[in-house]
Amino acid sequence: MRILGIETSCDETAAAVVENGTRILSDVIASQASLHAEFLGVVPEIASRAHLELLLPCIQKALCEASLDLSHLDAIAFTRGPGLPGALLMGKVIAQTLSWTHSKPLLGIQHLEGHFFSNLLQTNGRTVPDPLPLPAVALIVSGGHTDLLHIRSLGKYHVLGRTLDDAAGEAFDKLAKLLRMGYPGGPLIDRASRAGNPGAFSLPRPTLPGSFNFSFSGLKTSALYLLKDAGFPIQSPKGMEKLAADPAQWRRRLGASLEDLCASFQEAIVDTLVQKTLHAAQVCSARSLFLGGGVACNRRLREKMKRACGRENLPLFCPPPPLCTDNAAMIASAAYFQLRSGKFPKKSSLSIHPSLPFINWNAEHD
Ligand code: KG4
Ligand code: ZN
Repeated sequence: MRILGIETSCDETAAAVVENGTRILSDVIASQASLHAEFLGVVPEIASRAHLELLLPCIQKALCEASLDLSHLDAIAFTRGPGLPGALLMGKVIAQTLSWTHSKPLLGIQHLEGHFFSNLLQTNGRTVPDPLPLPAVALIVSGGHTDLLHIRSLGKYHVLGRTLDDAAGEAFDKLAKLLRMGYPGGPLIDRASRAGNPGAFSLPRPTLPGSFNFSFSGLKTSALYLLKDAGFPIQSPKGMEKLAADPAQWRRRLGASLEDLCASFQEAIVDTLVQKTLHAAQVCSARSLFLGGGVACNRRLREKMKRACGRENLPLFCPPPPLCTDNAAMIASAAYFQLRSGKFPKKSSLSIHPSLPFINWNAEHD
């Protein structure tokens, strides 16, 4: 079964064709990062307009690379949410038009569920056991979400915890914005951290005892006050730009480097994510652990999670970095497993929703 996936929830315009939920026949992504970079964040109106311009060429390229045309497809799937409303709408309108004009079944997919399904895609000989070792715990960490899930079977999700304020990716992006490093901040902080000392600054690791929720806004505030107290002009973007790029000033004011701050900040996020996820796996008697979302690209997170899972003898699954960030192959994969289950979504499940929760499409299979 071949499915065309379409992803437009934020600032990546993507189209992909996936066979039987696991084999990527094509995977095309047009990043809008350069359009948003000067604003150090995503501008929703610019994102919607860019999706409108980029999506049809992406679909054309995805079909061409898969050596298929629309008539060969078994279904079309698009991201219903969560995401930016205007951006989601662009994907839906184009997916619906193609579905209607070519008489193909249409599925609306929850974006974060898609991030989980990235784990099932085969790349460079990497395969995932079939059936999956369930029950599992999954940590989906992106720019807008930090969700810890208990997965008892495919399509049956229980959210154990989520962030009460900033998502992990958002925290990275906000620190990078404060330091005038650029956008998206996660990869830049990851890179800078390699030259830094993770123990240079002692930053908070909010544990929220008795809960699987996260909170990252205090961490960002701590970094802000640390810089403010050291006399950094945090209100002045120009002043920060100058100072942030001056290693001598960092040494003089903080006795450490920008790289040290990035590494300490990253360590606080990674430690919190690893500790909570492993605890959840223990409580749920999980047989495996899955990662997904853009922050799962983080070198230190992958390293520390792997080490922790090794200690617990827990199989860890994590997509390769290009499949951790937003892509359309994960949307096509999720759609395949929904279709295969025989639970073809009702018409109402095609509506877009900026804060769409996880949907238990397999709820009665318990
Ligand atoms: O999943 P994603 O591509 O889009 C959303 O659904 O939000 O995630 C994007 C987020 C951004 O916040 C970005 O800074 C973060 O993932 N990110 C990273 C890394 N690569 C991307 N965060 C930390 N380390 C990275 N290497
Ligand atoms: Zn995402």
